[in-house]
Amino acid sequence: MIYKRAFEFAKSMLSQDRFEHSVSTAEYGYELARRYGVDPDRAYLAGLLHDVAREMPPGSLYLQARKQGIILRREERDCPLLLHGKVAAVIVEKEFGIKDKGVLNAIASHVTGRRHWTKLEQIVYLADKVEPTRTYPGAGIVRELLGQGEFERALLEGLRNAITYAAQSKGWIVDTETVVVFNEIAKTQT
Ligand SMILES: [Fe+2]
Ligand SMILES: [Fe+2]
Repeated sequence: MIYKRAFEFAKSMLSQDRFEHSVSTAEYGYELARRYGVDPDRAYLAGLLHDVAREMPPGSLYLQARKQGIILRREERDCPLLLHGKVAAVIVEKEFGIKDKGVLNAIASHVTGRRHWTKLEQIVYLADKVEPTRTYPGAGIVRELLGQGEFERALLEGLRNAITYAAQSKGWIVDTETVVVFNEIAKTQT
């Protein structure tokens, strides 16, 4: 069964802490998907597998991405850790034969968000950022908004947190795709 294999695969690729984060992302994503009208099984699967490339060294991520024909953006060349979602999507497609483009896109876009992303992608993005083991300041507010049915506001806050965190962390850069996505949502909320 695919879920069991995905579970074992994630476990084999990740440290205990990050594996637990992945399971929590899957479970929280499942609940969000149910609440917000998206297929929960697809959110669960994407959540389980979203970080399978997260512990690859930056140099390997870069080489893998090049090898797989991923067109690298400037930010991804400068900070190859940003590629861990896109590389994970390729690994998952090959390892599991997952053909579901929606699931693959959700894995690929969980790091930065993506223009014209689907609700499934947004749910996996948020589940990754605020699953219950996430305790940084700001995570609780996003969970609260999600609990109140305020999906768009939660998404805006989740993106704001991500941009702020990246700006404040040494070794990270602010990804322009995240800024574009943030601005698109921000202008719809006055
Ligand atoms: Fe990640
Ligand atoms: Fe994650």
